[in-house]
Amino acid sequence: MTTPHGARIREQFRLQASTFTDDGFAASGLEWIVERLAPRAGEQVLDVAAGAAHLGRALAPHVGHVCALDLTPEMLAQGDRLARESGLRNIAFMTGDAMALPWLDGQFDLVVCRLTLHQVEDPAAVVREMVRVTRPGGRIGITDMLLERPEVERENTRLERLRDPSHNRTLTRSQVHALLDAAGAEVTSTVTRDNPLDLEDWMRRSQTPEEFRVEIRRRLDEELAGGEPTGLRPALRDGVRTFTHVWGTITATPLG
Ligand SMILES: C[S@@+](CC[C@H](N)C(=O)[O-])C[C@H]1O[C@@H](n2cnc3c(N)ncnc32)[C@H](O)[C@@H]1O
Repeated sequence: MTTPHGARIREQFRLQASTFTDDGFAASGLEWIVERLAPRAGEQVLDVAAGAAHLGRALAPHVGHVCALDLTPEMLAQGDRLARESGLRNIAFMTGDAMALPWLDGQFDLVVCRLTLHQVEDPAAVVREMVRVTRPGGRIGITDMLLERPEVERENTRLERLRDPSHNRTLTRSQVHALLDAAGAEVTSTVTRDNPLDLEDWMRRSQTPEEFRVEIRRRLDEELAGGEPTGLRPALRDGVRTFTHVWGTITATPLG
């Protein structure tokens, strides 16, 4: 992909790839998601914008085969290495664009995407593609951060982009539902959970420049002191700054 946003994504995730290990942040919530997706033996699964395929690798032992597609080669290389280390043999990694999937219609039983809709240039195109390549009666599973208070979107986006310039926009639950609806899928379930994060670790992983870290800390401290909300729900725990992303897992099935 040659758009400026695609270039920002590749650059950001080239930097972050080595932090996508199998413990800590990158591995959080996997059991919770897999349970919601109810994978079945023999299924053909596609992990869209898979990164190091944390979700695809968690699904692989339960299904027939997983294909993990991503824009950033360094993320795929990290996933491939982790898959080999754990002896997984039914997962394949390929570079590609989630907005133009290289498959005919209805090729997969289960199509998933974790923590990426907020990142991509055109989330509607990604959801359309996910629905298109899912077979009739198959399942789509989208997990992402959700914005609970739409009125703070502008400030939330400003802070997320200071931390990671490839962040696009965090969607609300009803916006994700609307994308699925417009793409011709029926939402079958939505569950959410709080995901508390250590602020300094979050900014370290994205190699956020110090001047932007200072502004993010300042703004969260302002909210803690009673200032306007940012949607990040900051807290101080034993002197450590934390904040909370709300994660949603939304499942759907193609209509007709
Ligand atoms: C926050 S990471 C999440 C990775 C993985 N899904 C996970 O759950 O760990 C976002 C990923 O989306 C990928 N990405 C962003 N836009 C993409 C696109 N248009 N096509 C394919 N991958 C994309 C990035 O390269 C990056 O690996």
